[in-house]
Amino acid sequence: MVTLDDLRVRRLGECRHDSTLAKYVGGRKTNEHYVDEDDRVLFDDTIELLASHGLPLGQVPTLEPGGPRRKLYFPPGATKVGVVTCGGLCPGLNDVIRGLVIELKNHYGIDDVVGFRNGYAGLNPALEYPPIELTPERVSKINTQGGTILGTSRGAQDPEIMVDRLVELGIDILFVIGGDGSIRGASKIAAVARGRDLPLAVIGIPKTIDNDIPYVGQSFGFQTAFTVAAQSIAAAQVEAQSAINGVGLVKLMGRYAGFIACYAALANHHADFVLIPEVPFALHGESGFLAALERRVAERGSAVVVVAEGAGQGLMTDAQTGTDASGNRKLGDIGRFLEGEIVGHYASIGRELNLKYLKPGYSIRSVPAKAHDSVYCVRLAQAAAHAGMAGRTDMVVGRRHNRFVHVPIDIVVSERNEVAPDGDLWLSVLESTAQPLEMR
Ligand code: F6P
Repeated sequence: MVTLDDLRVRRLGECRHDSTLAKYVGGRKTNEHYVDEDDRVLFDDTIELLASHGLPLGQVPTLEPGGPRRKLYFPPGATKVGVVTCGGLCPGLNDVIRGLVIELKNHYGIDDVVGFRNGYAGLNPALEYPPIELTPERVSKINTQGGTILGTSRGAQDPEIMVDRLVELGIDILFVIGGDGSIRGASKIAAVARGRDLPLAVIGIPKTIDNDIPYVGQSFGFQTAFTVAAQSIAAAQVEAQSAINGVGLVKLMGRYAGFIACYAALANHHADFVLIPEVPFALHGESGFLAALERRVAERGSAVVVVAEGAGQGLMTDAQTGTDASGNRKLGDIGRFLEGEIVGHYASIGRELNLKYLKPGYSIRSVPAKAHDSVYCVRLAQAAAHAGMAGRTDMVVGRRHNRFVHVPIDIVVSERNEVAPDGDLWLSVLESTAQPLEMR
């Protein structure tokens, strides 16, 4: 169970500088739309969960709210900032970079922002990727492009070397836009800086197309990704319905968590089956997937199957071993495997099958963010800029119960956000697809 102590954010020291935003927020009090900096956001959102701690209100788990402070740790105008994007692509990376640069310039008078290229590799001088200057002019239109103008890479670098580099460049605040592995790396940088007694703030902006980072609300880019994924499901349905015994099989990203598959399927209600890593299924037998598919095609003339890449890994004997540079286990190709199994099943029952296999994969994460995500990205960037200027460190910004909050890195990397098989999202998927409640 998360405790109040787990949620305390580290501070570099006392905030002595007047904030340029102080006059905007000075007279405000907490209300439905705003949380005062001295207030706290409840971690739990039901009476039962809150009561389960058996603690007085002041000791239940709560989070520090995001937003501008009246006093700052770093002096406006005289602070130097670095930004790095790490890991796989996600819609909205450029929106976050742009949001940071513009917020830092407009409200904190900061002209000195550098972008490290190609993930943490850009923080290792031996790899010779010189940083680039990020000015408001340079970033003004980057939100219209997918990807990241800084480049990205997977994998770690020695935190001692990265801190040396940050010191050499005189960086006061480092913003890390990355997934759980990169956020862990950010925490290591913060730890080295702390060990050397350096006033370096390290702020993470969690990024995951899979929406699998816990406690920080929906991750940016996720909404764009499932919107694009839903178009592939619609295409699969058109193909399936236009053929005799048509089956549209769509493989989507989602290594450990099936959020993209669930949301994309719910977006247009076309899927007959959604298969995700969190819910194991059997292939064979009366209650297995193949028999259920056969029944659905017989009833409706066609079917659409949406599978997340991490689903059904235990079914494949030739599952891959090893991990990628981010430490993620390599996956067997469940899409290709299911394609073979479905074709084999129809051959064995002597019935015609027309299967179309769609793999939208990278095309759902390389697109520019759609408007809703762009708004979220800019607001996360603003919250991150405020946190950094106030000398917070070893934390990420996120959104919990619709409030922007600061969350210590330790807690966001302590587990993974997954689709709960007994939660209401999966129930909605089962209601929408009318697939068997269990296929085991
Ligand atoms: O971790 C996010 C993610 O998009 C996964 O869904 C996917 O397995 C992986 O990245 C693929 O990334 P890449 O091929 O770039 O390493």
